[in-house]
Amino acid sequence: MAQIDRCYNIADLRRVARRRLPKGVFEYLDRGSEDEVALAHNRAAYDRLKLKTRVLADLRELSTDVDLLGDASALPLAIAPTGIAGLCSYEGELALAKAAAKAGVPFTLATGSITSMEKIAVEAGGRLWFQLYMWQEEDLSYQLVQRAKDAGFEALVVTVDAALGNNREYNQRNGFSIPFKVSARSIMDMLRHPRWMLTVLGRYLITSGMPRHENYPAKYQHRITRGTGQAKPMRQSAMSWQDIARLREFWPGKFIVKGILRAEDAVLAVEHGADGIVVSNHGGRNLDSSVASIDALPEIVSAVAGRATILLDSGIRRGSDIVKALALGADSVLIGRATLYGISAGGQQGAEKALAILRSELRKTMAYVGCREVSELGPEIVATPPDPPSETAEILP
Ligand code: FNR
Repeated sequence: MAQIDRCYNIADLRRVARRRLPKGVFEYLDRGSEDEVALAHNRAAYDRLKLKTRVLADLRELSTDVDLLGDASALPLAIAPTGIAGLCSYEGELALAKAAAKAGVPFTLATGSITSMEKIAVEAGGRLWFQLYMWQEEDLSYQLVQRAKDAGFEALVVTVDAALGNNREYNQRNGFSIPFKVSARSIMDMLRHPRWMLTVLGRYLITSGMPRHENYPAKYQHRITRGTGQAKPMRQSAMSWQDIARLREFWPGKFIVKGILRAEDAVLAVEHGADGIVVSNHGGRNLDSSVASIDALPEIVSAVAGRATILLDSGIRRGSDIVKALALGADSVLIGRATLYGISAGGQQGAEKALAILRSELRKTMAYVGCREVSELGPEIVATPPDPPSETAEILP
């Protein structure tokens, strides 16, 4: 029996992933930033929300189908961009894209991924979105966007929440950063995981050589063991709403701005032509004091619902989390780590397993709250717990 057959939830897939991956790779995918408060808070925010059940709702016709940005999706879910997929499993991005196509949901390819967008477009099938980090040399960004256009990607997802990088101190300790630093520690780490050495790194070495960032502009497509030759080739810190307006003009397809946590920014995104926004704190990987995206959602829904598609991510590990997000006004969610655990545990089949688990949990939760259609999920099914008694009230006579 394959290990993934014994995985019954996303946490099980995470446990297998942890065993299979070198520590440096696993921590890069799994952990947050600084003291990992946002990471924990993302989960706590979902756990705090309770659902109110309905009974005897005749659920024979239960459906998870939705219209997502004008096209059908079998689930209110898309796979989020994650630069590291190609090191979790051999051509991990392709595995994710194929699993998404099979499940009938969109897949987002990250700028920092290893498999080229052209290969994904030819081999994966399904709905494909491309995520952009902008480069200091603006032309290079537009060259990438042109490549995505030529390859037939449906949507452009521009990530805007990484202005000055992040503090992920464990990556420095593990010697796992991009570029990958070859040190005694990282070599020992890899040697302790011979299966990964053989089936991931070794397979690249005997096929295409040391992995490269195939979706970086040509002049930066170095091996992952070599720097870009420039300290900060990306220009997140210099980006402004003018960039969003220009990209919008250049990109003919669906246009999504990712990494929004305030109503004001959601409104600006819509005013600058976004068809969709992603309410996200980057999975708790950037600002450690960040609000949980599910807590930021209601004010954003009040500001832009009906004017743009509202996607949400960060912390989703159960189908019930998806129900809570949709009930509070998201149109769909993005999934980051859940499917990365899947490919790490078992390649494409592992990703399919992660999506099947989430689908099954979503259906069960919809049944408990008495909803046959995703559109029936509304705020009335969510019960937030009462505020804790205030200390002042307790000491008054
Ligand atoms: C990410 N994320 C991300 N986002 C993005 O816009 N570009 C990127 O290259 C990456 N890379 C990346 C790598 C890894 C390892 C992770 C875990 C995440 C963020 C991602 O798109 C998404 O916002 C979060 O992963 C959502 O949170 P969960 O589902 O992982 O909790």
